[in-house]
Amino acid sequence: MDTTSSTPPNRGTWSSKIGFVMAAAGSAVGLGNIWKFPYTAGENGGGAFVSIYLLFVIVIGFSVMLTEFAVGRKTGLSAVGAFKTTDRRWTFVGILGVLSGLLIMGFYPVVGGWAIAYIYKVSTGLLSQPDAIGDSFSGFIANPLQPLFWMGLYLFFNILVVMRGVSGGIEKAGKVLMPLLFIILIIVSIKGLMLPGAMAGLEFLFKPDFSKIDSSVVLAALGQAFFSLSLGMGCMLTYGSYLRKQENLVQTTAMVTAMDTSVALLAGIAMFPAMFAFGMEPSAGPGLVFVVVPQLFAEMGEIGLVLAILFFIGLSVAALTSSVSLLEVVVAYLIDEKGFSRITAVLTASGVMALLCILASLSIGGFGPTLFHTGAFDIFDLLTDKIFLAIGGMLVCLFAGWRLDRSELKKEITNDGKVSFPLFNVWYMLIKYIIPVAIAIVAIAGVKAGFDSNKGEIMILGLIIIGLCGIFSKKL
Ligand code: PHE
Repeated sequence: MDTTSSTPPNRGTWSSKIGFVMAAAGSAVGLGNIWKFPYTAGENGGGAFVSIYLLFVIVIGFSVMLTEFAVGRKTGLSAVGAFKTTDRRWTFVGILGVLSGLLIMGFYPVVGGWAIAYIYKVSTGLLSQPDAIGDSFSGFIANPLQPLFWMGLYLFFNILVVMRGVSGGIEKAGKVLMPLLFIILIIVSIKGLMLPGAMAGLEFLFKPDFSKIDSSVVLAALGQAFFSLSLGMGCMLTYGSYLRKQENLVQTTAMVTAMDTSVALLAGIAMFPAMFAFGMEPSAGPGLVFVVVPQLFAEMGEIGLVLAILFFIGLSVAALTSSVSLLEVVVAYLIDEKGFSRITAVLTASGVMALLCILASLSIGGFGPTLFHTGAFDIFDLLTDKIFLAIGGMLVCLFAGWRLDRSELKKEITNDGKVSFPLFNVWYMLIKYIIPVAIAIVAIAGVKAGFDSNKGEIMILGLIIIGLCGIFSKKL
């Protein structure tokens, strides 16, 4: 733990640069890359979605991440404090981030729990009946009780890591486990690519058919970029607040973005060729990774069993390093703004998250309350992925571009002129004008298109909640 920095007394700083990059990459790389990216790409037409997603990652994702790191480090405070100390009128952006963290943690641990359950299921004979793998998954997630047990276990691991504080828990978890995951994914991809007929999968993933693009595909790509890079909710901002003054923000941003995107693409390469080789539907939905990967390995005998176990360990670990960062946003808020001790903050936040997760998990089997015919799991996902993160990202850009001083930002990003960033002016134009306008257009068109698939009402609800955050934020 570095004690020389000027962050508030009960917070830590990252003990090394590589530790920070790994922890930020650990936050970014998670279920978003390995579970969400493949099925979202599959549902949205493959190559066309992937190319828009890549464009958004490079232009919007990179710029927003740099903005979050800069604002976080400049203020040395977490999501809410960073805005509040600068200008109380902007506090709601931080509050919206904390709310997004809570809501994402209202479904993320459910899927994290599935991943842990699959370590157990694969080890105890799931692969011996390849034909039953699909039904076994749908039966499992629709069961009211079983997934709750695994979700509880998953949340418990989160609590352990976050209790130990920044450099103790999060950093160590990231450093050891991320490289392991990367290696596993490469092995899985090579295996998949060797199957006969695999090339059709690669073509689906990388050959864009632009006639498939409509506004809901574009909004899905934008949401995916934000979700996958952990942006738009103050997470990278909070991580940036722990970052030391001498680190190079531009380089760090580039590294984290590159790592996150390569894992997503790798997950796609691991799954689509195998699916096409097996004659499965690319639009199979959220069960994709839990059905395709075990089926793939079931064909490979003993080695397949070992690889499948390693894969689900990797998936659980990747999920954990992400959800730990989500929990940390809420915890840092409670510590910095509400004066909680770390232990009380962790227990309070995870208690609320556990309740939301129970609703989300039950909703998959058709139990529990619905709103506009949508269950809790889908509501939390839609609100955050389609609305809060993108609008949150837009607001962070507007805050940096219009409320903060250009020269101060330049000083922060270039470490007082010590680091060169030739694209500073381009970045500044992007965050001040282009990105906010682009996000507004995509969001409006996406909400309109959402009404065709009964998602529009929930999205409008999201916009209303953002408005309410604006009105009531002074009380928080
Ligand atoms: N980026 C994480 C993932 O891909 C999810 C996440 C979103 C984490 C937002 C933090 C903040 O799984």
